[in-house]
Amino acid sequence: MERTLTAETTEKVGKEVKLAGWVDTKRDHGKMVFVDLRDRGGMVQVVGGSELSSLRPEDVVEIDGKVSERPEKLVNSKIPTGKVEVKASKVKVLAKAKDLPFPIDDEGNDIEESLRLKYRYLDLRRPRLQRNLKVRHQVIQKIRDFLSAQDFIEVETPTLSKATPEGARDFLVPSRLQPGEFYALPQSPQQYKQLLQVAGIERYFQIVRCFRDEDPRADRAYGEFTQLDLEMSFTTQEEILELTEELFIEVTEKVLKKKVFQKPFPRFTHEEAMKKFGADKFDLREKEDKDVLAFAWVVDFPLFEKTKDRKIAPSHHPFTAPKDKDIPLLDKDPMKAKSWQHDLVCNGLEVGGGSMRITDPDLQKKIFKILGHSQQEIEEKFRHLLEAFKYGVPPHGGIAPGIDRFLMAALGESSVRETVAFPASASGQVSVMDAPSKVAPELLRELGIEVAKKKKS
Ligand code: AMO
Repeated sequence: MERTLTAETTEKVGKEVKLAGWVDTKRDHGKMVFVDLRDRGGMVQVVGGSELSSLRPEDVVEIDGKVSERPEKLVNSKIPTGKVEVKASKVKVLAKAKDLPFPIDDEGNDIEESLRLKYRYLDLRRPRLQRNLKVRHQVIQKIRDFLSAQDFIEVETPTLSKATPEGARDFLVPSRLQPGEFYALPQSPQQYKQLLQVAGIERYFQIVRCFRDEDPRADRAYGEFTQLDLEMSFTTQEEILELTEELFIEVTEKVLKKKVFQKPFPRFTHEEAMKKFGADKFDLREKEDKDVLAFAWVVDFPLFEKTKDRKIAPSHHPFTAPKDKDIPLLDKDPMKAKSWQHDLVCNGLEVGGGSMRITDPDLQKKIFKILGHSQQEIEEKFRHLLEAFKYGVPPHGGIAPGIDRFLMAALGESSVRETVAFPASASGQVSVMDAPSKVAPELLRELGIEVAKKKKS
């Protein structure tokens, strides 16, 4: 007999079925034993006698039985299969389960996060996280469909690559074939997507993993996160904003079945936002309402900013184009120059950022110089881009919304970690796999790497 999913039982009243799944709960009334059987589609009540009494929560079982309608007064309106139950005739235990280290039938917010992450494969059985992963998939699917229909193509770019400045520390991977040299994992595919514009891929996107070694926060994953990276040729900022807006309205209304607070998304200049909200990300909702997503755009950012360590740094990355009328300011008063940067805000979070790009190699060199790069550094780090721009570069721009961070807002979660299957902990450990870990000395030798002994303090 073929397997029937618990959700399909309502269509099979009077029929024999074979179910398979996990024992969610068991209520033993002696002669009558009730088991809620859980599978990927939901849950159904199974009734039986002694054959069910040895089962324990989370055992994996296969149950044959007959579907019947429950008497009116025993209907459970809380679950979709609440009108039926399955009378067990045969029970086969496929795998026994130990007691779980924590309960999985609640939200799980009170359990210590390190324990949840160590047993993430159990934590993920929680209905909230099952929903989050499903919604994540549906959102990504929608993005792919939407952009494909608009003539975009998804192109993969290398993960073993060279540093791309996005303001965080790089993850390095030693090269075995070129001892002493290192790849950097991309902080974003920024330069590749610009090179793809030179290549004539006029409408590029990629659901892509980005790697940044920076201190985690609730809205910032440690190590890696996913972007919808997007770039267009022969475009304008207006077109990028409109396309992104249409996409996010469709995702919010059709996939998440939530309301968009204001359409079209309100726009604020950076100056207005700072005056009005004291920050460049803000929540427009009057009160917290998980069913409403309040999007807004922030534009006209300053091109440069002061940071703790640097007198002048790009306020986003060095490829952002200055406003045309502000180009003369670069020589006189660069801090006053405004840029073509656009940030997408949602319910208080910055969920995306992008810009129109510099395509004039001389202007790009000038920006690198202002940022303090020497001629030699410019050559070493950015020669490929400057060279590419000499072979016919179309005007281009784009954006990269963060998938994890958008889902954090969309699902009303308290952390980006609740939107991914196996996040790193706040201290950078991927606990299930015990990563990072020591490696065999032979491997280090082959790579020409010696690990310095920690200095005694
Ligand atoms: P930016 O660095 O602003 O731009 O990143 C774009 C978006 O990525 C998400 N994001 C993160 N999400 C989770 N954890 C993190 N550590 C993290 N860091 C960033 C945010 C952010 O808005 N190449 C440019 C984009 C462009 O110019 O097109 C870039 O990466 O949602």
